[in-house]
Amino acid sequence: MGGVLDPLARTALWTASMRAREHARADRLFEEPLAGLLATEEGPLIMSGFEGDVQGGVQDPALAVRTRYFDDAIRRADTIRGLRQFVFVAAGMDTRAYRLGWSEGSSLFELDRPALLDLKSGLLAQVGAQSGCSVQPVGVDLTGGWTTALAAAGFISSAPTFWLVEGLLYFLTVDERDTLIKEMTALSAPGSWLLADYVTQTSLDSDAMRAWRVKMAVSGHPWQSGCDDPAAMLGGHGWATTVAGYGSPEADFGRWAAAELAPGVSGTRGRYLITATLSGGSASAV
Ligand SMILES: C[S@@+](CC[C@H](N)C(=O)[O-])C[C@H]1O[C@@H](n2cnc3c(N)ncnc32)[C@H](O)[C@@H]1O
Repeated sequence: MGGVLDPLARTALWTASMRAREHARADRLFEEPLAGLLATEEGPLIMSGFEGDVQGGVQDPALAVRTRYFDDAIRRADTIRGLRQFVFVAAGMDTRAYRLGWSEGSSLFELDRPALLDLKSGLLAQVGAQSGCSVQPVGVDLTGGWTTALAAAGFISSAPTFWLVEGLLYFLTVDERDTLIKEMTALSAPGSWLLADYVTQTSLDSDAMRAWRVKMAVSGHPWQSGCDDPAAMLGGHGWATTVAGYGSPEADFGRWAAAELAPGVSGTRGRYLITATLSGGSASAV
């Protein structure tokens, strides 16, 4: 079913599969009942291929931790800060539109490859999934000009926006990443938020990451960039930035410490979660 997708789009089946597995745990960090459907039959195969080849069978907790971290930030943006416009950049098979509570008047734009979004819409229609907000899929190439399509879909640039860039930045070159940040910033009213996950360049270049990077490259979706100073990367565009390393008190959820001890996932070190705001907001209150 994922056969129409390019290799990079297929990574969304992989992350959906990891969320389905998390959903099945008694101590799950979030509920994602639609993830198994959206993973298709291919997602579990990709997931087990990576865990078997690169991680010695050890499960990487990063996906569960980052999902919960971003869920909590979205809830706070909605209920505490009153944001009503959300853009998920490289949304993939994300189902937050269907599983989180949303305030009345909330709009969510999901940006991703057209083929991936078509597959997702078809699968969701099969089960009659109902979103709690106005959700608008916007098929684009994020490295090839996407802002016009977002505007045409009803995005309001004068309203503060919550940007979620989850599971994308490391797939971009430095130039593509910086262009994307520039484009998001140009569309961001004061009070906007930007959340993302990323990795240090130092970690990316380390021996511990070698097997992971080789496997990602031969699978057709190489990790191409990292950043050792995300505050400077975003600060240059006016964003006030805080960074939570996985395993820090706010990004652990009881999952990280054990994983750090497992040799198979040593390559997950150096990964972190970014929270940034444009003046008018407050990163510390996220
Ligand atoms: C690892 S998945 C992450 C999906 C989702 N955010 C998640 O966390 O499950 C990466 C996603 O980035 C999307 N993507 C990568 N490069 C893209 C591009 N140039 N244009 C549009 N989407 C892109 C892929 O299609 C895929 O859905």
